[in-house]
This record gives sequence, C-alpha cells and structure tokens, in this order.
Amino acid sequence: MKFFVDTADTAEIRDLAATGLLDGVTTNPSLIHKSGRQFLEVVKEICGIVDGPVSAEVVALDHETMMKEAEILRKIADNVCIKVPLTIDGLKTCKALTSDGTQVNVTLCFSANQALLAAKAGATFISPFVGRHDDNGFDGMQLIDDIRLIYDNYAFDTEILVASVRHSIHVLEAAKIGADVMTAPPAVIKSLFNHVLTEKGIAAFMADWAKTGQTIG
Ligand code: G3P
Repeated sequence: MKFFVDTADTAEIRDLAATGLLDGVTTNPSLIHKSGRQFLEVVKEICGIVDGPVSAEVVALDHETMMKEAEILRKIADNVCIKVPLTIDGLKTCKALTSDGTQVNVTLCFSANQALLAAKAGATFISPFVGRHDDNGFDGMQLIDDIRLIYDNYAFDTEILVASVRHSIHVLEAAKIGADVMTAPPAVIKSLFNHVLTEKGIAAFMADWAKTGQTIG
C-alpha cells in the first residue's frame, strides 16, 4: 500500500520523506488555509520534495473554470495531480484531464456508487473519506471493502486512496482490504512506529549496554 501524507506543512513532508516511506502528498483547501501560505507557492515546494503525485484541489464548481484552474495547477510540476470534487462538473473535468494524460484524484467520495462513477470517468485515484463516514454513523471500512469488490469485478485501474484517516486501525484495515493508497496526517503515520514492547525493549537493551561500560568505535 502506498503512503501519502495529508498536509501542506512542508517541514513535516521533508521529515517523512527522509524515512523513505512517502509515496505522495495530498492537500485540500482547508490544509492550505492551515498552512497560512500561498497555494501555488506551497504546491511548488511540495512537488520539489516528493517525486510522487501531489494532489492540488480546484476550487471552482463549474467545469469550465475547473479546467482553467487545472491548467494553472498542472503547469507547476509534472507530478501535480488535480483534485476534483465528486460532482457532475468534477467528473467532466476528470474525464477531460485524464484523457489528456493528467493524473486526477476525485475527492469527497462517500458511496460505492460514487466511486463507480469516478472510475468510469477515468479517475487516477478515488478518495473515499473513511473518518468523516464513521463520524456520521456509517462504516468507513465497509465502504472501502465495497469499492475494492466493484473495482476488482470490472478490473478498473482507478486506485483506491483511503482518505480522512484518523488512526492506525484505519491504516491496518485499509491494508487488509487491499486499498492501493492511504493518506493520513503526519501524526497518524508516525504513530504506526509505536509499540510499547519496542520502547520497553530499547530501554532494557540500553540499560544493559550501559552496564557493560563499552562504547562502539
Ligand atoms: O484530504 C482529505 C481528507 O483526508 C480530509 O480528512 O480528517 O479532514 O476528514 P479529514
């Protein structure tokens, strides 16, 4: 499963990129707002940190203006992936852009039928929001399971990008189902390293090593 980080914080992106774990980055208008930076400038910087897809979202709601915004965004770098909402205009934009060889991430997916529409429109990625689905009393992971089944039934190439990931169990379940990608905030990705027995083991080894009085080198 590919790991994308869901942030516009370039210091966090650099830190995670250094682990070799990072396959891409996703941003959205809320994350750009949180960064306090200029959208185009921050996307350009992120594209220089990671080689993989960097999702940058259009903010227009009509197809024509979405295409104009996408034109500006895709000129930033070759690894820009245009993010569009799951609407009729969003999918028209998806079809036009992917036919032209541009990567498209269709976002705000909350049903398997919506995911089917996105795949038929040629989406590179579909982003079902598991956390927000759970928040509203639905089963986010069941949604991923259903999309996996449908995409496999028809051999769609669209990659399932599990979004709105809130904790390590979302990551685990997404991997067990066979999602292609997950995007999560830096803190969730870092939490995957944690295990009480790893920490306990390191503490015990360090204590015993200190008792040897030795150094390496
Ligand atoms: O980038 C889209 C998605 O990952 C947002 O997550 O936590 O705001 O629902 P969240």
